[in-house]
Amino acid sequence: MSTHNITVQVNGARQSAEVESRLLLVHLLREVFRLTGTHIGCDTTHCGACTVLLDGEPVKSCTVLAVQADGREIMTVEGLEQGGALDPVQEGFWQEHGLQCGFCTPGMMMTAYALLKRNPDPSEEQIREAISGNLCRCTGYVNIVKAIQYAAAKRPAEVT
Ligand code: FES
Ligand code: FES
Repeated sequence: MSTHNITVQVNGARQSAEVESRLLLVHLLREVFRLTGTHIGCDTTHCGACTVLLDGEPVKSCTVLAVQADGREIMTVEGLEQGGALDPVQEGFWQEHGLQCGFCTPGMMMTAYALLKRNPDPSEEQIREAISGNLCRCTGYVNIVKAIQYAAAKRPAEVT
């Protein structure tokens, strides 16, 4: 199996690794960089638990090869908190009880973060459409939608 040297920017920090061609991005993050906040639910692009941002766009990291991320910027759930302060999206999930078991939560939050970056004031329909690739077995989605609405209401004052 051939290997490749790749360098990525993860949550603002430059990281390099030698990886096999077949290594998936989610395994690079979890096993090589030890960023285990990104979860693996299905490994088949269905559940969205592995969602991270690649150059600002949400991707299912179980469907991206690590070599495809070479030279690019990755943001994981560990990158949401800044200087000890929770991102409004994290606060929203806390305040509105947007989780139960929490397995889907990192992926949900990354999808929500990306949505609010491109659309700071989404309608409920737009929120539901944005998270349609992220499955939750516990909550019934109602409180997840409320969590994202909370974050949308909070973000303009806090994010430049
Ligand atoms: S683990 Fe990637 S979509 Fe389910
Ligand atoms: S909180 Fe359990 S899967 Fe969403």
